[in-house]
Amino acid sequence: MVSLEEARRQIEELKQQLETHNYHYYVLDKPLISDWEYDRLMEQLIRLETQYPQLLTPDSPSQRVGGEPLKGFETVQHYHPLLSLGNAFNLGDFRDFNRRVTAALGRTPEYVIEPKIDGLSIALTYENGILTTGATRGDGAVGENITQNLKTIKAIPLRLREPLPLLIVRGEAFMAKEAFNRLNEEREKRGEELFANPRNAAAGSLRQLDPRIAASRSLNAFCYEIIHMEGEEVNTHWEALELLTRLGLPVNRERKLVADIEDGYNYCQEWIAKRAELPYEIDGMVVKVNNLSEQRQLGATAKSPRWAIAYKFPAEQATTVLEDIIVRVGRTGVLTPTAILRPVRLAGTTVSKATLHNEDLIREKDIRLGDTVVIQKAGDIIPEVVAVLPEHRTGRERPFRLPSFCPECGSEVVRLEGEAAHRCSGGLSCPAQVREGIIHFVSRNAMDIEGLGPKVVEQLFRAGLIKDAADLYYLKYEDLISLERMGQQSVTNLLNAIANSKERPLDRLIFGLGIRHVGARAAKLLADHFGSLAALAAAGEAALTEIPEIGPKVAASVVRFFAQPSNQQVIAKLAKAGVRLTQEKETAVEALPLAGKQFVLTGTLESYSRKEAQELIERLGGKVTSSVSKNTDYVVAGAKPGSKYDKALSLNITILDEDGFKSLVNSANAGT
Ligand code: IVH
Repeated sequence: MVSLEEARRQIEELKQQLETHNYHYYVLDKPLISDWEYDRLMEQLIRLETQYPQLLTPDSPSQRVGGEPLKGFETVQHYHPLLSLGNAFNLGDFRDFNRRVTAALGRTPEYVIEPKIDGLSIALTYENGILTTGATRGDGAVGENITQNLKTIKAIPLRLREPLPLLIVRGEAFMAKEAFNRLNEEREKRGEELFANPRNAAAGSLRQLDPRIAASRSLNAFCYEIIHMEGEEVNTHWEALELLTRLGLPVNRERKLVADIEDGYNYCQEWIAKRAELPYEIDGMVVKVNNLSEQRQLGATAKSPRWAIAYKFPAEQATTVLEDIIVRVGRTGVLTPTAILRPVRLAGTTVSKATLHNEDLIREKDIRLGDTVVIQKAGDIIPEVVAVLPEHRTGRERPFRLPSFCPECGSEVVRLEGEAAHRCSGGLSCPAQVREGIIHFVSRNAMDIEGLGPKVVEQLFRAGLIKDAADLYYLKYEDLISLERMGQQSVTNLLNAIANSKERPLDRLIFGLGIRHVGARAAKLLADHFGSLAALAAAGEAALTEIPEIGPKVAASVVRFFAQPSNQQVIAKLAKAGVRLTQEKETAVEALPLAGKQFVLTGTLESYSRKEAQELIERLGGKVTSSVSKNTDYVVAGAKPGSKYDKALSLNITILDEDGFKSLVNSANAGT
């Protein structure tokens, strides 16, 4: 074993070597050594750090493998709000943008044009050259702290090449097309749910609490904006990008400085054709005023800077032949026609299926079997058929009609008044509906059971091992081990994943139950309001519609769902299996002192900002809405109230002045 001093020296040297190689590989795109040699250096470093754990620092390249899973993400308040961009779709929009900018500046500026990476927006903070925080954009003001996950991205340096006192940069984390295709192929083999596009795959990997997941996925990043910097100065965006490169941050080399918006537009047009050659997906180009003092002069609206605009590419299209139409039955019984296509390359993948939505659309577009069709990708796994090319018709094309009986259970197919969809009338006696319902229950936004994709659900269902979602929690090792493609390890993993899902938050469970018209947002509102599945099940339509944003359609559907004996049985089975049916930690809102009370704020309060007053009310269970109606319980009127005050008077609603509000809050606080 080498001495401590010698180990310290060797570790520092190895760290520097590894960082240099990372820089050459990821930033300069010119590797100096082979992957094999890189791995040997890393092994030496890990060996020394294992021998002398006291020499291990968080900025060591060995720390990218991903540490222990977190319980939840902390929130991060951004230094400056991370704004979004306005959109341009054509030359006219470019000219309008240029006209606005030129008018405000009194001269025509230079622009920098760069690709718009289709990934997850991130902010990185380096203090004294060390990466201390990595966050998602979140709502722009507050993001999630995903430092642990971002550290697994090798392109992101843990230490800058020059130790600036403070640097906060904005960038995009993404997954290259090849890595994305590989990941989906593996997931398909394992029967897991596929990611719709590289953006979802990147976001899905980085928003996992277990950093080992991000570490196992090939992610990458580009930085494109300095949010705040101390210790250096730059005058233009171009210089900023060069400085970031010098500091060791990954910056996209595809960029151009133009003196004229028409040139800028032409450069963007070139990229429409070239985008397919890039190893990563871009969904447009970004046009930015180059000079930073001009940027400051232009400023920003609440949403986006006035000095930049995003040019959105038209969706990618391809032409192929429609060979067949198959009909799938979804979890609500809706029959969806799916086009089977002659395989064709589109947006970096081979496509052999496209959605046709419904029969009306097929008729409207006059899509016939054997037709040559134009397909388009719009962010989903499955592209859509946008048009037929009738000039390719031979006369042998045949029109298509949906079947009158369900292809899965033979029940009659009906079309409800005012709906475009045709539905199987079999309900829960239709195996397809039940199976699809279980697939929804385990899916990523619901109970998120890793390793339990549509194929495995189908396998379990066919083997008669599950008849509803609750049966999953009663599966045993012996049941699974005899199934095809199930080894000891995969059975153990699957059983663990199922057991872990028992602790999912209540809103995920409510969403997973697949109540008609209850999407993820409504599920969250219901979970927050009722705090338990039992309370939700007991609620009548009146109690449900009292929740802002919950309308009569959702309320009726919820009541109908819980009244069904088959659903009650599933819930009883879930409860018996130990699935969490109550809200975690937070006190159920219904138990809070201002529960169900609606407030409207007007005028200026002395002791609270609008936001503080709103947070206070919400913490006590109340809701704040923007306009006065007969459902409003209190109008809190500060100095110089607006028309809401008069409206409250006319509707005879209790008006509280600041003191009145304080005493209400105080007595409510006493009750918590
Ligand atoms: S600049 C204030 N540059 O596009 C300037 N954004 O639709 C803000 N994006 O949320 C962004 N590539 O996540 C900028 N080269 C690029 C970008 C880029 C991708 C994303 C970014 C933003 C979204 C806006």
